[in-house]
Amino acid sequence: MYLENIYVSHFRNYNDFQISFQPSINIIYGNNAQGKTNLLEAIYVLGMTKSHRSFIDNTLIQKNESAAYIKGNVFFQDQTETLEIGISKTKKLLKINHNEIKKMSDYISHMNLIIFYPEDLDLIKAGPSFRRRFMNLELSQLYSTYLDVLNDYNKLLKMRNDCLKQYVKGEYVDEGYLSILNQYFVMKAELIYRMRKKFVDKLNQYVPVIFEDISGLKSFSLNYHTNIDLESDISYQIQLLEKLKKHQEVEKRLGVTLVGPHKDDLEFLLDGNLLKSYGSQGQQRMAVLALKLAEIKLFQDYKKDTPILLLDDVFSELDFHKRNNLLKHINHNTQTIITTTELELLDSKLIENASLIHIHDGKLVSKDEV
Ligand SMILES: Nc1ncnc2c1ncn2[C@@H]1O[C@H](COP(=O)(O)OP(=O)(O)OP(=O)(O)O)[C@@H](O)[C@H]1O
Ligand SMILES: [Mg+2]
Repeated sequence: MYLENIYVSHFRNYNDFQISFQPSINIIYGNNAQGKTNLLEAIYVLGMTKSHRSFIDNTLIQKNESAAYIKGNVFFQDQTETLEIGISKTKKLLKINHNEIKKMSDYISHMNLIIFYPEDLDLIKAGPSFRRRFMNLELSQLYSTYLDVLNDYNKLLKMRNDCLKQYVKGEYVDEGYLSILNQYFVMKAELIYRMRKKFVDKLNQYVPVIFEDISGLKSFSLNYHTNIDLESDISYQIQLLEKLKKHQEVEKRLGVTLVGPHKDDLEFLLDGNLLKSYGSQGQQRMAVLALKLAEIKLFQDYKKDTPILLLDDVFSELDFHKRNNLLKHINHNTQTIITTTELELLDSKLIENASLIHIHDGKLVSKDEV
């Protein structure tokens, strides 16, 4: 899969901008604050409908404008699809091949992206919600059903929490209603758990090898952390129901659901130790990189095609040796879009075959201007 071109209007510091990409390596370069990350972000938003670095859509709209618009052509399995997204201050419009798409899950599996950017270290350093968000986003791209199941689960979670809040307020609650909610809740919880677990198991087939290739270190792995005993003969749903029962009194006092996949975590382990507490900054960075590169392989397995790889400023943070190790994993068959402030940081062979895109102040610098 690859992005043939993109048109961006009133997005961040881009007023009216258009660029074509080649199916292999593309390098966006320029000084700080010129719009390199913004362009990568526009590509990400086109595929995922949301930014990778801002939760607030309004910041994506160019200052003093009322709406942003992005359009791109994506080549996938011998066909080109046109994706469009319009973002106003109050709503978002999604289109595929000029037809409006109402359901997000029908949209985001059309353009598969893997992004690596400096703040990705939060995946290891920050709280579990970052890692759950990561799993949710990646699984939504892999299976369009995942997002539907997740939405159902979140709706049930909200209903359950609303019900528990009634206890906190001392209002009348129908116990039968809570018990029915519990039945549905554990059913959806198990579906989420199963898809996430399968995803992590598959990643574990690739991640250790890639991590070793880049860092030279063995024994890196991922672990899906849940407080359900996965070795037990008792089924997932029964165990979760029992946990709900066990926590019920505390939940009724707090007004929130304390167990379920919305509390699970993804652990990064090096030699059995949590990388979060034991790993160096460089090791953490390489672990996230290995994870992202492993995902490319996963997408290939599932979708029989490669996703688009976006690398924001990754090379400046790695030493020479690690940079070269990483380059070996950048495959010309995978469309890769890289940003950098210094072309010199990149391998000359990589540059030779790449399409070079020079950005200044939200505009393309043509070759004659250099
Ligand atoms: N909504 C917006 N409207 C107009 N300009 C914006 C908006 N959001 C961000 N910008 C501008 O975009 C520029 C930053 O762009 P970007 O983050 O893409 O830089 P960059 O080229 O990646 O720089 P660096 O090398 O430092 O990472 C800043 O000048 C910022 O003021
Ligand atoms: Mg940047």
